[in-house]
Amino acid sequence: RMMPADALVIFGVTGDLVHKMIFPALYAMAKHRVLNVPVVGVAGSKLSLAQLRKRAKDSIKQTGKIDDRDALEHLLSLLQYVGGDYNDLETFKALKQTLGDAQHPAHYLAIPPALFAKVIKGLGSSGLADQARVIVEKPFGRDLASARELNRIALSVFKEDSIFRIDHYLGKEAIMNILYFRFANSFLEPIWNRNHVASVQITLAEDFGVKGRGKFYESAGCLRDVIQNHMFQVAALLAMEPPACQGYGAVHSEKAKVFQAMRPLQPDDMVRGQYAGYRKEPGVAKDSDVETFCALRLFIDSWRWQGVPWYLRSGKCLAATAAEVLVELKPPPQRLFDDSAPADGRANYLRFRLSPNAAVALAVRVKRAGKEFVGDQRELSLLDEQPNEETPYERLLGDAMAGDGALFTREDAVEAAWAVVDPVLETHHPAHSYKPGSWGPKQADALIAADGIWHNPRFS
Ligand code: BG6
Repeated sequence: RMMPADALVIFGVTGDLVHKMIFPALYAMAKHRVLNVPVVGVAGSKLSLAQLRKRAKDSIKQTGKIDDRDALEHLLSLLQYVGGDYNDLETFKALKQTLGDAQHPAHYLAIPPALFAKVIKGLGSSGLADQARVIVEKPFGRDLASARELNRIALSVFKEDSIFRIDHYLGKEAIMNILYFRFANSFLEPIWNRNHVASVQITLAEDFGVKGRGKFYESAGCLRDVIQNHMFQVAALLAMEPPACQGYGAVHSEKAKVFQAMRPLQPDDMVRGQYAGYRKEPGVAKDSDVETFCALRLFIDSWRWQGVPWYLRSGKCLAATAAEVLVELKPPPQRLFDDSAPADGRANYLRFRLSPNAAVALAVRVKRAGKEFVGDQRELSLLDEQPNEETPYERLLGDAMAGDGALFTREDAVEAAWAVVDPVLETHHPAHSYKPGSWGPKQADALIAADGIWHNPRFS
């Protein structure tokens, strides 16, 4: 087992991600009294330690009030700063000096992908990679070739089990529950396959636009931004075989097999959309065809899932902010009752609410009182609107520092997931315009028509 990290180095400490997510996560760790190692920020700017501390404080304040002064003071006392160019070996020498006798630093790369190779090489050539680990932010590549290249660079300096690729969805309570729910229960396994499941839908909807990230979004689009990573991870947890044994490697291997079994996408499997007004966002091209909405029909060519359609859909400026999975079961083999053509909805289903809260419900039909044999679909709630508590970054940083890689993504899985979307990254139909506040372009309804209608998560 890996030694716990004895220092945390944050490259890109002056960046947006650190401001929004990482300082608040470090503060939460300090509050829970689990942060006890030096935290060394690295960035290009000339910054005094006092300025860095102020930034940290501002970042924490902006997420809520400071309710534990001791924790804040403790975090600030752990902070150090190294400024310098990532091209310059002197920067890494200065970092080495600051790290003193730390033996197992965790290097967190919260930097744009273009700087990735430079920093990894700098760490390698200055001896800062020995016995160390690296935590890598998304996006992990923008297609199969670039993901392979990133893996090659990372693996030239670090061993696979020292590389922690973050997909923050894996740190969410509701998503960890999918793995638990599937394999802690026995009633599910007999029906969890092509014989009983008619289709699976996963929706990740947001009711806001690109929020000032137009420039980044232009280089990404919905498919790269959330589907290839977050939504595929959810699909893999739903589709995977039971792990052969306990521990890290087994779940990773089963997830990788799901991506390997996914049929590479073709242009007709995908509907792209763009919300009206996107082209006026700062940083966005006037004639942009980048998709802010994407719906997919996907097949997993495995023994378990052969022929079952998986529908994945995500978008910005939709009617709600919610993520939900709907696993729809096949209808009974014969219609015995007049109402059994589910006029009021669907066949039986399992619903997993992933965000903003966690819920699990099973929908079954029950008879209405009276002499007619008619009934209604009722949801039996198995988990009710549980708030997502811990921030995923607190959990993920803590795990990476402890050396536990279970909630991170492995080289083979990341590449296999890219291989599924690679054929449609550049070759695809144009994006259809849709109205902000809607459920996306109507062409997405045609995509699913043969298997039913989209399930729109309830507003909350
Ligand atoms: C990020 C994407 O990875 O995930 C964003 O870059 C998206 O565009 C976000 O909004 C969604 O994450 P969450 O945790 O807010 O559902």
